[in-house]
This record gives sequence, C-alpha cells and structure tokens, in this order.
Amino acid sequence: MRPRCVELHRVLKKTGSFYYHCDWHASHYVKVMLDQIFDEDNFENEIAWKRTTAHADTHGFGHVHDILFRYSNGGKPIFNVQLKDYSQDYVDNYFIYEDEYVTTRGKFRINDVTGSGLRKGETGQPWRGIDPAKIGKGRHWMRTPTELEEMAADGRIYFPPKGRTPGWKRYANELKGQPVDSIWDDIPALTSFSKSAKEALGYPTQKPLALLDRIIKASSNENDIVLDAFCGCGTALVAAQKLKRQWIGIDVSPTACRVMAKRLKKDCGLKEDEKLWEIGRGFVVRDLPKTEAELRKYPAFEFENWAVVALGGIPNKVQVGDLGIDGRIYPVSAIPELRVKENVEMDFMDVWYPIQVKQTDKVGRPDIDAFETAMQRAKRKLGYFVGFDFTGDALFEVDRFRRQTGCEIKPLTVREILDEEIGRNAK
Ligand SMILES: C[S@@+](CC[C@H](N)C(=O)[O-])C[C@H]1O[C@@H](n2cnc3c(N)ncnc32)[C@H](O)[C@@H]1O
Repeated sequence: MRPRCVELHRVLKKTGSFYYHCDWHASHYVKVMLDQIFDEDNFENEIAWKRTTAHADTHGFGHVHDILFRYSNGGKPIFNVQLKDYSQDYVDNYFIYEDEYVTTRGKFRINDVTGSGLRKGETGQPWRGIDPAKIGKGRHWMRTPTELEEMAADGRIYFPPKGRTPGWKRYANELKGQPVDSIWDDIPALTSFSKSAKEALGYPTQKPLALLDRIIKASSNENDIVLDAFCGCGTALVAAQKLKRQWIGIDVSPTACRVMAKRLKKDCGLKEDEKLWEIGRGFVVRDLPKTEAELRKYPAFEFENWAVVALGGIPNKVQVGDLGIDGRIYPVSAIPELRVKENVEMDFMDVWYPIQVKQTDKVGRPDIDAFETAMQRAKRKLGYFVGFDFTGDALFEVDRFRRQTGCEIKPLTVREILDEEIGRNAK
C-alpha cells in the first residue's frame, strides 16, 4: 500500500484532498504510514463512518464504524461545507416555541443575536436602548441595527420581558441543514433488504453512492479531477460523473473494470468509445489483458470471470460447489420483448447455456466428460467450454456427444476469444 500512497501523494494537487478508507483493524497503522507520506501537518480529518447500526457481538462492543482519513498536500485544499438534515430529536427538543407564523415557518427556537467581543462599527452600537458592549464581558450585534429592525418587522426577533437581551428566532421549516462533522451516521451501508439494496450490484466491497457523493462534493468543484485508484465497481466514478467532475479510475481486477464499464454505461449513459472520450463525452477502459500469456498469470477466479464475461455471460456468484458450471449465457433471443407472440412471463429465465472454464494448457477428455454430466444434470442442450487448447481426445468426445445425444459443446480457445474481442473493439 505504501508505494501506491506515495504515488497518490505525488499526483495530489495543492488544492486537492486525499481520502483513505479502512476499518478498525488497520486504521492506526495506516494513520502512521499516511503521516509519514503526507506529513502530519497535512492531516485534516479523521471521519468515523457509522455504516451499520447493529452488530451482534457478545464479546465486546460491536464494531459499527469505519475510518476515513483526509489529508491535504501542503496547500489550501478545497472544502465545501456539506449539510445534513437535523435529527427529529434535535428538532423536537429545541424547536418548542410557536408564534403567529407557525403554520408556514413551523415552531422556533431562540438563538443569540449577539456575538462575543466588542466591535467599533455599527454592530457595536446600542440598538433599541441596549448597548451590546455592556452585556457580560462585552458583545456585539450579529447584524447591523438597520438589519435588526428589518428582522424585528418580520417577526424574527424575540423580545424577552424586562428589557433583557433580544434573541434570534430560528424557525424549524427554514432550517437549511446541519454542517456535516466528523461523525457520519446518516449514510447506511449497502445491505440487503434495506432501501439501499437496489443500488447494490453484487460487487462485494461496493460503497454507497451517498458516501462518495459527500466526499467529492466536499473536496472538489465542477470540472476538477477525481482519481480513485482502487475503484472496484466504480462508485466514485459514477458519483464524479453525476457531479460534473472529470475522473480516472484504476483497479487491478479486470472483473471490476468490466462491472464499472457496464455501470457507467447504464447509470450515466456514457459510451465506451475512444473518439467520444477524446472530446470528453465517453470513456475508455485500458490495459485489460490482450495476450494469452497475461491470462495464464491471472488468479483462477479472475480468469473464470474474464472468460465468462467475454462471452457475454454471467459468472456464477459462488465459486465453489458450482457443479461444473462457471457461468451462464442468456441468449438475446430469449428476452421477452423479442418473443412477444409467445407465452413468456419468466420462462425466458430458463433459456440459458452453461459455460465451463479451465485455465489448464490443454482441456482433456475427463474435463469434457465432467461437463457433459453437468449439462445433463442441468438439462441443457448447448454449452460452451473455454480453455487454452483441447486435446484430440477431448475434441473427439465433443463430437461423439453431439452425434449420440444431439447435445452440443462448443469448444472455444482463449485465442479465439481474444481475437473476437480485439475485432469487436476495433469496430
Ligand atoms: C474496497 S474495494 C473498492 C470498492 C469501491 N469503492 C466500490 O464502491 O466498488 C477495493 C478495490 O481495490 C482493488 N485493488 C486491490 N489491489 C489493488 C491494486 N494493487 N491496484 C489497484 N486496485 C487494487 C480491488 O480489486 C477492489 O476492487
């Protein structure tokens, strides 16, 4: 992590901020590392994001928050104050008075209309016979006497009995919001069976859009550049795009890159197109594997995902116990709007073809045998098998299976998929 943070520090502008998100296991070590890289004088905030409310933990206090560190780079970082809704408790507790404006402005609370310290100008002068300099150790009005008169005419000044210092009436319906502080407890994590669940793409570490939205709004302005060097399924990129920022995303996982590309198309209407990207209207995904040698070095899980997604399929979520099927292709012809005359309902979900992927040099006959069993168990008549190469025996078995059962296995090599992908991208 250190070398990556060093590079991120190097490219951070003087007006920019760097955010690092981690949990309680790592936060103390990470803080020491970041102080060394960014300098402890540039440590701006430690934010506790209370991402969940309950955590059944009988051995200690439940861990309900993550940590976000914010650093600047020796300059004056952009900071736009963010507002959040006041809690109902706060409103019920403090907004307890009402006057003739209650139906439109709601109930009110009484705040100071003076600030501490003396002033020589208009705000230090007596108003309606009250000299702010004589209040306590000396105060001043928070508005000029002319403005105070206007506020009084509009019913916004509270005059207590016995000539005591007036107060400023703040109405509940006119609250703009409370400045967000370092405890963020108003953004729920993406959990199932909650309102936020509809945002979830199934990417395991996906963050809520509202979290990235707040960070980006607070620390950048329109057209600024947002860089997420660990961008997963692209939450920061979607937030940045919607907030009219420019953005760059990096992720080591090709699966993440494909998920994020799909999301940018769907959620932001962006096109993956080099020419559009050059004029600021689209985006490009770079440095995905282009050679067999690169794919041979992939972790098995990434390789499987790559192959399934490249075929237009959906990888199995569960990697173990998949009974010999790594993914499924749902043919376009089975989608309801293309089959209007038939009785569709949900039956199109049953039209799918299994995909099996092997990262071995040569797929052998036993691999094909096992896939045949998996296909028969799932009652599928067509399936795809991906490998770097196939032995003669394996291809012989594919042929025998088709002749004897009428079921077809399409053997596909990685080379064929790569050629097809390159051809498609070049169009
Ligand atoms: C916590 S997830 C980010 C989730 C993201 N905020 C979202 O909402 O989807 C971290 C990501 O870092 C990626 N990653 C891990 N090591 C990396 C590296 N060395 N370089 C780039 N990305 C890396 C992982 O593939 C993973 O997608």
